[in-house]
Amino acid sequence: MAEVVIVSTPADAGRLAAESIERRLAESERPVLGVATGSTPLATYRALAERGTDLAGATAFALDEYVGLPDGHPEGYRAVLEREFCEVTGFDSANLHVPDSDPARLETAGPRYEALIREAGGVDVQILGIGTDGHIGFNEPGSSLASRTRVKTLATQTRRDNARFFDSIDDVPIHCVTQGLGTIRDAGHLILLAFGPSKANAIRSALEGPVSSSVPASLIQLHPSVTVLVDEAAAAKLEHAAYYRTAYANKPAWQRL
Ligand code: PGA
Repeated sequence: MAEVVIVSTPADAGRLAAESIERRLAESERPVLGVATGSTPLATYRALAERGTDLAGATAFALDEYVGLPDGHPEGYRAVLEREFCEVTGFDSANLHVPDSDPARLETAGPRYEALIREAGGVDVQILGIGTDGHIGFNEPGSSLASRTRVKTLATQTRRDNARFFDSIDDVPIHCVTQGLGTIRDAGHLILLAFGPSKANAIRSALEGPVSSSVPASLIQLHPSVTVLVDEAAAAKLEHAAYYRTAYANKPAWQRL
């Protein structure tokens, strides 16, 4: 099962995530980090910067990208990651891959991105946020657990959640290119982070509900190496919270995150 760690603050989660990322990338001959956008990963990027983690030899792959934003739009995920990940951690943006969502090349965007990930040797560690509807990447409820990178339609709930980054919900794109659940499952290790009460239902369903394409994040139950870092509010609805706390408090020293 996933290792679930309930922390006090996003900063605490970020520090644990950064430590795990640093170690896993250091152990890899061709280090590849899977990066995510949204508010959730920011504490991890800050913690990587504070630790001074050396990312010089690494490659990074984004989970997803909007379709239809003008080139250079500040909310396009390449721009977001350059600002919030590369500038913060010192990562060279030349080594950052984001799905090509140019409408002229959309039909082949998925397979081309899959090929790039394969050529890089696969993702060693993937950072994940979770949507209030249980999505990971932009795999909305109903996404096949075996899906690969492809064009998807955003759920209205996701567009509502992301409207805060735009002038209005009407400006949030309807389509995206996202890594599939099968793509995410291929990563060596997954770190799923969630903070705040709006994530409590999604976290409970993902960790303790049935594995189902209705809750795309429940995919983590099929992965052999997952760390879930949640604050108290996001953990509030977990039935087995006491067990997760006991397991973490009694974690053998050799068994690292
Ligand atoms: P958030 O988004 O980190 O901004 O809450 C998470 C997601 O939609 O995956």
